[in-house]
Amino acid sequence: MTDVTSSNGRPAGLPELAQRTGHQFTRIVALGAARGERSVPNDDLVGPIDSSDEWIRQRTGIVTRVRAGADVQAVDLAEVAAREAIAAAGIDASQIGVVLISTVTNTVATPSMATLLAERIGATPAAAYDISAACAGYAYGIAQADSFIKTGIAEYVLVIGAEKLSDIVDPTDRSISFLLGDGAGAAIVGPSDYPGIAPTIWGSDGSKWDAIWMTRTYPEWRAGGAQPTIRQEGQTVFRWAVWEMVTVAKRALEAAGITADQLAAFIPHQANMRIIDEFAKQLGLPESVMIGRDITTTGNTSAASIPLATHRLLAEHPQLHGGLALQIGFGAGLVFGAQVVVLP
Ligand SMILES: CC(C)(COP(=O)(O)OP(=O)(O)OC[C@H]1O[C@@H](n2cnc3c(N)ncnc32)[C@H](O)[C@@H]1OP(=O)(O)O)[C@@H](O)C(=O)NCCC(=O)NCCS
Repeated sequence: MTDVTSSNGRPAGLPELAQRTGHQFTRIVALGAARGERSVPNDDLVGPIDSSDEWIRQRTGIVTRVRAGADVQAVDLAEVAAREAIAAAGIDASQIGVVLISTVTNTVATPSMATLLAERIGATPAAAYDISAACAGYAYGIAQADSFIKTGIAEYVLVIGAEKLSDIVDPTDRSISFLLGDGAGAAIVGPSDYPGIAPTIWGSDGSKWDAIWMTRTYPEWRAGGAQPTIRQEGQTVFRWAVWEMVTVAKRALEAAGITADQLAAFIPHQANMRIIDEFAKQLGLPESVMIGRDITTTGNTSAASIPLATHRLLAEHPQLHGGLALQIGFGAGLVFGAQVVVLP
């Protein structure tokens, strides 16, 4: 038996470790955005998938999606978005303690996109790493940033969702290729005088690991298979999103201690306009709540979709600044994350 001598149960002879404490509250201080420079209309994609502009508009709400050129990588988009967010936050990059990039389209398995970005923007020697949480990655990043600042690990955290999904689509695949776009959204999260980020509701369901998948593994590719591309079981994901994600969204409202009518905006992952409409209906959102519908012209940019939609809503409706927004991301894993935030 250990001889316990201290009042807090510390074993005798064990030196007391110093502890760090952070800020009581956090908030998203500023945002940045970058979209692929080419606007690709449905008609440019329908040939190889035997589809039509009308079908894609009706079933997804997408009219055009943004795609980046061959010479642009996801990290380039991340850099543009990050620089805007840092400038808008009015901080110096050296004040950033952690750089988090959610991405599934880094050009290499390692090293991370985040370390390269930190170097490019002068955020060294910040801790930097990538998050693999697909379309929930931005909400995961905000949850981590919030915790880091509250526990004193960092003063400011740069959270980015950055994807060049056009690199991993097969133009002949009709399950998902036509949905996807390229972009990056960035947020600076920092200390606040008031609560600006409510508790996150997050989780995973690995029983649906193969609902959104890559067509082959790296070893299979090395053995001579074609490049792996992304596919999905569209109806499985659709049903899961509509039934289960609404519950997650409601739990996030509850965790924040607010009701839907107190929201200024609802900004779900931009997966499908029919999913967004169903959310709005089931959450009973009043007309006054603005809804992120960036999917129409941007497509689904995975982890970038929530910050891009938020950035756009704020640009088009400046009255939303300082209001409450419910954001929810969900996707491959399957994974999900939701929280209520105060809009910067
Ligand atoms: C992919 C998605 C748009 C397909 O729409 P859907 O309404 O579910 O389509 P279904 O699979 O039920 O197919 C309906 C019909 O359209 C056809 N179809 C499927 N894909 C098509 C396409 N790309 N173009 C034209 N027709 C298509 C099917 O063959 C089927 O035809 P049939 O009725 O003659 O058999 C939709 O399922 C979806 O958005 N899923 C979730 C997306 C998502 O959240 N993904 C997560 C990534 S983050």
